[in-house]
Amino acid sequence: MKKDFLTVNDFTKEELTDIIRLSVAIKKSISSGYNPPLMKGMTLGMIFQQSSTRTRCSFETAMEQLGGHAQYLGPGMIQLGGHETIEDTGRVLSGLMDIVMARVIEHKTVVSLADACTIPVINAMSDYTHPTQAIADVITMMEHLPAGKRFEDCKIVFTGDGTQVCASLGFICSKLGAHFVHYGPKSAQLNEDHKKILEENCRLSGGTWEVTDDRSAVKGADFIYTDVWYGLYENEMPKDERVKLFGDYQVNRDMMQLGNLGCKFLHCLPCTRGEDVTDEVADSAASLCWEEAWNRLTAMRGLLVYFTREKKQFSEIARAAAKAELESVLDSMGIAH
Ligand code: CP
Repeated sequence: MKKDFLTVNDFTKEELTDIIRLSVAIKKSISSGYNPPLMKGMTLGMIFQQSSTRTRCSFETAMEQLGGHAQYLGPGMIQLGGHETIEDTGRVLSGLMDIVMARVIEHKTVVSLADACTIPVINAMSDYTHPTQAIADVITMMEHLPAGKRFEDCKIVFTGDGTQVCASLGFICSKLGAHFVHYGPKSAQLNEDHKKILEENCRLSGGTWEVTDDRSAVKGADFIYTDVWYGLYENEMPKDERVKLFGDYQVNRDMMQLGNLGCKFLHCLPCTRGEDVTDEVADSAASLCWEEAWNRLTAMRGLLVYFTREKKQFSEIARAAAKAELESVLDSMGIAH
């Protein structure tokens, strides 16, 4: 049965570890000059209801590098949500593509698309969660673990608005058994549903979680992460209002000093320089946000190969018969082959 990647919560720690391991192995292999065409002959449909830099470019590059092809289906370019239903779109794409990714405004859209498709569907960000980002985030942190620590030993603090990126980071950290904190103002914290999931994930993994507006919770962080101060799906708050609400949660030199020695900075990007993060931190030696953006490609390659791993199998007899039949038609028409 096909499986979709809508949220990391649908996967066990072992499955997520496999996706990460595969992504890292492909990265190492390609960077060492061995690049097997693991997506050869396959097509990825890329549905975007919103604009994107990292997600679009990393998916498209991943397909190119792995010998496949990606079709960009941007806002207004296909019938989805117009006079064709999501269900009909999913049914059609299932016969034309091998895998689909969708960046959607509302999470229910990607759920309906996955229900309608017989091919795997990857959530490329919804208002609920951003799971491909979470895989890239963990890979980046694992590449920069503090000396002597495993990922499970690390404290990861997300500061600011409880966006879908904050939720996905909390979900994956708690799945993998790390120590996750959301430090944000009460009106913009992860909600009760998120907390129930964090609790259940930690029960199984041995991780811990905390959601708080107490600044002392940042102390001892190994990684400090933030996102823009207003959800991408909300009406943008006037600047003075968002500075008033989130100003104390900006990642600046003072906040980085609350972390452990060697504490690193992450940001899903795009950032709003001077608001959620200062130039000084974003461009510092402690900043991993650029490597994190490049690791979107690492994650996409692993996800694409993992979710298409049950490829069609053909017998040698069927293949030979098909070859003979096609060659006979081509020959009968004088078409060189
Ligand atoms: N972080 C992220 O998803 O970036 P894009 O919106 O540019 O894809």
